[in-house]
Amino acid sequence: MNLAVVGAQWGDEGKGKIIDILTPGFDLVVRYQGGENAGHTVVEGGRKIILHTIPTGIVRGKLSLIANGTVVYPPTLFREMEELRAAGIEVEKYLRISKTAHVVLPIHREAERRSEERRGEKRIGTTRKGIGPAYEDKYGRRGIRVGDLLHREVLEEKLSILFSEKYSEMTPPRDLLETLLSWGNSLAPLMVDGPSLANSYLKEGKNILFEGAQGTLLDVDFGTYPYVTSSNSSAAGISGGAGISPRFLDHVLGIAKFYATRVGEGPFPTEIRGEAGVRIREKGGEFGATTGRPRRCGWLDLVALKYSAVINGFSGLALMKLDVLDGFEKVRVGVEYLYKGEKLNSFPPDPYVLREVEVIYRDFPGWDSTRGKRQMDELPKEALNFLKFIEEFLEVPVWFVSTGPSREEVIITPEGERFLKGL
Ligand code: IMP
Repeated sequence: MNLAVVGAQWGDEGKGKIIDILTPGFDLVVRYQGGENAGHTVVEGGRKIILHTIPTGIVRGKLSLIANGTVVYPPTLFREMEELRAAGIEVEKYLRISKTAHVVLPIHREAERRSEERRGEKRIGTTRKGIGPAYEDKYGRRGIRVGDLLHREVLEEKLSILFSEKYSEMTPPRDLLETLLSWGNSLAPLMVDGPSLANSYLKEGKNILFEGAQGTLLDVDFGTYPYVTSSNSSAAGISGGAGISPRFLDHVLGIAKFYATRVGEGPFPTEIRGEAGVRIREKGGEFGATTGRPRRCGWLDLVALKYSAVINGFSGLALMKLDVLDGFEKVRVGVEYLYKGEKLNSFPPDPYVLREVEVIYRDFPGWDSTRGKRQMDELPKEALNFLKFIEEFLEVPVWFVSTGPSREEVIITPEGERFLKGL
């Protein structure tokens, strides 16, 4: 059985934890888009491991593929490999990288820094990891791929095209070619034909878990463009990003928090500007895993989430961080948007519309504590009502409810159990 785990909001939903719980049932874990803009946190034996490029599956000793749809900055990858080795993980045994993944170059980071500075107030608020410029060069057909790092002549030609066509105002660093070759030398033992590897697993009937990064509302096609990342971070990215036919994807699990966060610029209709937002940020530890930036916090937006459920065709949902809302007198959810006084029938991804919508909320009474609960019937009835409302609104069954940061602090619903049994 093949499953995609996809962020349903603006990223940072807690995908790492759910992927970590699911990994034992899978044989191969695949990252199919994005790069080190992601930060997936896994808590292992009290130790917090944050992975940016490497699939989280590696922590559980599963073969982990960085597939063709990703963009990789090798120095960061090497640092992560080192950290994993220090944690006793046999990185060489479990990590593979597709030769057709694209390489992020130092110049991409520099170009992004300049672009963001030029935009000033109108900046995207990127992670400044060079992700956008690397994808620009991919689609501009002048990118450097991981496999190219093994070929001096290929690199010489590509660098000359890149610097004459795109970065003519910048001088290539003198040691760039040698640096790229040394990256290639280090990565050579991990390089594979990614699509062949993934398809051989499919052919043998093994289970593949596709690990999404960022979230659907940051998807370059379906998100709040231009305040998005530069890849298809919804389930739409899987086929192109990993080289498997859409025919073979069995399930898509959407991950969402019981509230909403956003990091970077862009519209956020349910953003809380008052004290409740600060409280959620502090209690939920809502600071970027990659950049440390404080995340903007808001109430759960069911209009946006419904859109996400439709785009991804979610089979199930994992709802995260219920405990962060513990102790609130009331909790709110956005259930409808009004635009120029009219009800909108679906989520409008354009920022110039989103900025002007009026959100209609529904309020729910709060509850004392859900922290660490592992059974549905242990939840306070107010929390249970809140959960049921969300499930019915979205028309997607909830498989997991997370009630704390560690992997044990989770409720697996009967639907979730059924899914796990089928693995
Ligand atoms: P980029 O992906 O660095 O180009 O950033 C584009 C937008 O996506 C910015 O708003 C970032 O804050 C946001 N973003 C990128 N990666 C993540 C992530 O993993 N979690 C949350 N937001 C992200």
